[in-house]
Amino acid sequence: MLITFEGIDGSGKSTQISLLKNELQEQGYSVYVFREPGGTDLSEMIRGILLNPEIDIDPVTEVLLFSSARSQLIAEKVKPLLDNNDVVILDRFYDSTTAYQGYGRQSLAIDQIHQINKAATHGVKPDVTFYLRLSPQVAAERTKHFEKDRMELSGETFFERVYNGFEQLAKNEERFKTINAEKSIEEIHQDILNFVKEFLS
Ligand code: TMP
Repeated sequence: MLITFEGIDGSGKSTQISLLKNELQEQGYSVYVFREPGGTDLSEMIRGILLNPEIDIDPVTEVLLFSSARSQLIAEKVKPLLDNNDVVILDRFYDSTTAYQGYGRQSLAIDQIHQINKAATHGVKPDVTFYLRLSPQVAAERTKHFEKDRMELSGETFFERVYNGFEQLAKNEERFKTINAEKSIEEIHQDILNFVKEFLS
């Protein structure tokens, strides 16, 4: 089973992923978590480039770099694990490229982004995507004291467009389960767990 988490920066994905992973492991599942971009040596190197505020990256190059990191992760780690019936949780997947590069950066037309996503994922699709919905204003407030990476320095208008991108995806994609990320950590965890348990049974 492939479970992905999406949402704008500050939506609390990492906390929820670690709670879900622990719970599923306690129930006897073998669970693997990877972050995107990242998760393999090469993909982590690409992550270092993508998030470095001192490097100027052309918007189309940015799409291709996120996609290169993804292609390596899927081919090297995710596909073999799914073939072995393990549970894989991804902290972001190709929906982030659609929302950040497609809607946020407007680097390429959305259907071109979809084509690149298709190539980079080697045919792998999530069974369920938890979209932690948080307004860009609340997210900005939550992250205001954090040190910002190259993507997080992209500005308010950019994050509003990214948010709208996720909202579009949530409307169009049946696999999207929208979660109110302003609820408490425990409430969100229970919502996610209920859904995953139902799915696994
Ligand atoms: P993270 O902080 O959630 O690990 O993600 C790294 C940053 O990269 C975050 O700002 C979202 C952004 N990102 C994209 O712009 N496009 C993508 O395809 C992915 C996976 C992440």
